[in-house]
Formats: sequence, C-alpha cells, structure tokens
Amino acid sequence: MATRVLRAATAQASGKVILLGEHVVVHGQPAIVAGLGRGVRVEIEPGSAAAPHDPRVDAALRLAANLLGIADEGFALRIRGDLPIGMGLGGSAALAVAILRALAKAADLAVDPTVIAAHAHEIERLFHGTPSGVDSTAAAYGGLLWFEAGPPPRHERLRLPRDLPLVVVLSRTVHSTAVTVGSLRARAAAAPEVYRPVFAAVGELVRAARHAIEADERSRLGELMTMNHGLLRACGVSTPELDDIVDAALAAGASGAKLTGAGGGGAVIALPVGDPQPLSAALAAAGHDCFTTHLSASPG
Ligand code: MEV
Repeated sequence: MATRVLRAATAQASGKVILLGEHVVVHGQPAIVAGLGRGVRVEIEPGSAAAPHDPRVDAALRLAANLLGIADEGFALRIRGDLPIGMGLGGSAALAVAILRALAKAADLAVDPTVIAAHAHEIERLFHGTPSGVDSTAAAYGGLLWFEAGPPPRHERLRLPRDLPLVVVLSRTVHSTAVTVGSLRARAAAAPEVYRPVFAAVGELVRAARHAIEADERSRLGELMTMNHGLLRACGVSTPELDDIVDAALAAGASGAKLTGAGGGGAVIALPVGDPQPLSAALAAAGHDCFTTHLSASPG
C-alpha cells in the first residue's frame, strides 16, 4: 500500500430517484434512475482522530481508503448535505462516492468514475448486503440513466428532450433497504413461478417508460409509473402510508406516482402535468413534506 502525503479535502455526491424498476433490478431486469439535485458533502482531515460515527460509516471510510490503496492513518470525517437519509434517495451510495472522491483528492489521485462506481458498489455492501449497483452508479455519474445490474453492471445515458420536474414526497417512516430487499428475495425464492412473471412485467414497464421518456410522452410515463407502483405493492414492498401518498398525488392531479427506492417507508415520486408548483402546494397543504427536483434535458 502506497504511503502518500495526504491533505484535507472535501467532495460531494448526489442522491438519486429511481423512476421505475427498483427491486426488479436486483432480479435481472433494468431500471431507470436519475441523479438528484440534493446530495451529501464530506470533509476529510487526514491524521486527525476520527469523530464518532455509525460504525458502518467508519467501516466505509476504512474500506474506501483500502480500495484506493491509501494507507489508513486515521481521518476525521464530517458529513453534511441536504439529502434526507433513510428515505430511499440513495444516501449511502452518495456517501460512499463522496468519501471516495474526497480521499482521492486528499491523496492527489485521478480516479475514473468507472472505478469510483465499482468501489462505491463494494462499499454499499456494508449498508445493503446485495445492492444491484444502481444507487452507486447514479451517484458516480448523475443524470438520467438506464441501468442493468451485472456482472458487469451496464448503464447508458438516456435522451431527455425537455426538463422533467418531479415532486418528491417524504413519508414519515425511515426504511431499511437491506430488510426490504431481503424479504422480497426470500418470498421470490419460495415462489419463483409467481414472482418471475411479475418481475418480467415490471421490466416491460421500464422498457416502455424508456420509450415514453425519449419520445417525450409524459402522460404515458405517468401511467407506467403508477402501474409500477401497483406491482411493487403486489410484491409487498409498499405500505399503507406510501399507498395513501400515491393516491393523494393522483387526486391532486399528478399524471403518475409511485414509491421510489426500496419501499417499506421512504419516499414517493409524483409526475406533475406541466408546472409542479400546484401539485407540490396541494400535497404540502395536505400535510406532506415534499420538494421538487428537475431532471435536466439532455441529448443522451
Ligand atoms: C434501492 O435504491 C434500489 C433497490 O432496487 C435495491 C438495489 O437495487 O440495490 C431496492
């Protein structure tokens, strides 16, 4: 392991929303994911005593140093940011990518995003057991991506003809991705003949959504998102609270809504028809904690 002179460094990484395909992406189907305007920022000071953290954060820091070939001489780590944590918005992947970027900067190493994404996927295992890599890929690359889990994982930037606003609605329930993914995996293993066709059906929704996004067919995209929520609910990863938020968003005029991330709590995304303000105002007036994010138009 190379001994390098390290300096203090800061770096950040974005959270994500999964537009369609969470869970089934763990089972061989594609997902569509978008980087969020919110994220995690870390400050690393080498040689200082590490501030007390969640033990998994300390383990992530040590593993990140190890993966980058940097001697672990003790680091003080400060974490800031505006990303709600435990809400299915990719907080742990954003943290892993931000730590890797900060360590690389501290050691003056140029590290390719492919390597950052692969290392972040490895670090994500500390938090989520068997992640597909969708969250770490979104945090490492940002933008709107088509993603297929590996090995090797594959992603592609999607064409977005026009900015796409989404309203993100936070539930009051923090969730555990590892628990939700693990329990669905167990149910699917016990009845593969039941779950396989459902996962394949969601895969078809994801493929149709890609077409809707690239063809700028917004109401079709909304319809597909709501169908995806129905199948996630059928798979047992939604909750009455998330279903109520989806219903509230649709009643307030959203063209589609679904849980995003692992479910079991966390957040819902709602697709407004045009201006997101009336939708977010209606949801806020009904007592929901929400914010709007804009996915930027891109040639793909
Ligand atoms: C979590 O953001 C997305 C899941 O599909 C898990 C994963 O892909 O690792 C639920």
